[in-house]
Amino acid sequence: MTRTAHLATPDDFDGWRDAARALAIQSVPPDQVIWQVGDTPGDLFAGEAVAHDVPPPAATLRVPRAFIDLARNAILHTEPERFALLYTLLMRLQDQPRLTDDHADPLVRRLELLAKEVRRDIHKMRAFLRFRELPSPQGPRFVAWFEPAHHIVRANAAFFLNRFASLRWSILTPELSLHWDGEALQEGPPATRADAPEGDPVEDVWKAYYASIFNPARVKVGAMLKEMPRKYWHNMPETALVPGLIATAQARESGMIEAARMATGGNAEGAWAALRDEAAACTRCPLYKPATQTVFGEGPIDAALMLVGEQPGDQEDLAGRPFVGPAGQVLDRALGDAGIDRARLYITNAVKHFKFVPRGPRRIHDKPDVPEIDACRWWVEQERMILRPRLTVALGATAARSLFGRTITISRERGRLIDLPDNSGAGWITVHPSFLLRIDDKARADEEYARFVSDLKGAATAIA
Ligand code: URA
Repeated sequence: MTRTAHLATPDDFDGWRDAARALAIQSVPPDQVIWQVGDTPGDLFAGEAVAHDVPPPAATLRVPRAFIDLARNAILHTEPERFALLYTLLMRLQDQPRLTDDHADPLVRRLELLAKEVRRDIHKMRAFLRFRELPSPQGPRFVAWFEPAHHIVRANAAFFLNRFASLRWSILTPELSLHWDGEALQEGPPATRADAPEGDPVEDVWKAYYASIFNPARVKVGAMLKEMPRKYWHNMPETALVPGLIATAQARESGMIEAARMATGGNAEGAWAALRDEAAACTRCPLYKPATQTVFGEGPIDAALMLVGEQPGDQEDLAGRPFVGPAGQVLDRALGDAGIDRARLYITNAVKHFKFVPRGPRRIHDKPDVPEIDACRWWVEQERMILRPRLTVALGATAARSLFGRTITISRERGRLIDLPDNSGAGWITVHPSFLLRIDDKARADEEYARFVSDLKGAATAIA
């Protein structure tokens, strides 16, 4: 007998999970389930409704963490089959608990593709949505119109809450609207483009934000326009700025960074968490494909010292944390010898995905290329903008390239204060700890290690 599982909305993950659990416990085959969204009356031939309060069986259901992560994203896709596909995978996982690791399996692959398209849409909404200001008796209200490709609006609400917590705003979409009054988030009906105001002064906030992160020396107009799909261009005040920014091509005052912080609502913790979540879906260069995950920076938001490494290695890729493998052990020892507490540093990498060459079962580190470093610089700049460390230390050539936007000879520039481009703060250069691991000669290794410790000490002293 077929069963009908009713879901409240097209993005109703909790409803799907409860129904799927109840069905799977009763071993209902996937082809006997009809997934129905909303209260459209069931058709005459629809089967019995799924009761969610089925008592738990003795044997528990296997629901691996990786499946939940996949399902949370894939369910937001507009593909009508997504609920059934996910339920089929859940049933197969009962006999094959490691199935989500089999990326060649057609069902896993299909769901991963759906999840990827959803993550990309989430990123686009965060990057390309623009608010316009509407005067109101209670003060300004900021209103944005956005047309997502998938059911991502509710899933993205927390991001906008964090980033614009201090503003009163509404986001209007063809599926629903969200309204934040500074205290509570409310959901409203679908809207049309005509409901949203046209261009207005709030664009200045965005222009200031954009100008502060804009580095004319690095602009690649083609790449930039490729990143911003055409359908969003008319919505974006800063596209009007681009020619002027390119023409003036000059360093900007660090005071502009204040504007960027204002655009985060002054909530550095929230802005950082939102940035980390956004980076988790990064597809700016192809390195994300074979890597396990984005390895984002970690450490206190108010750290005075930021260390920038090259890229995660094998162990970091698996752990999702920077500098936890062999190079991390050298770094930890050197920090200890320099009298620096790692817990007080913010540590990140110039490139956030592990680049490797497979060799049998091993993954061998491969140096990132300049386009990969440049693509990832976006994240490092945003991290620096939110944290505003007093000193940023580049560990090795890749980090130096990322921070300075050009190739640096480490031996010539190491161990002294250097201004970072665009008046964006103070920099310091030293070697990468893995350089020390590659030195065979013991005496030379000891000597280089002592220089590394001395560089780290110098950095700490420079801001003491
Ligand atoms: N090397 C790096 O540069 N970063 C890490 O996180 C680990 C090794």
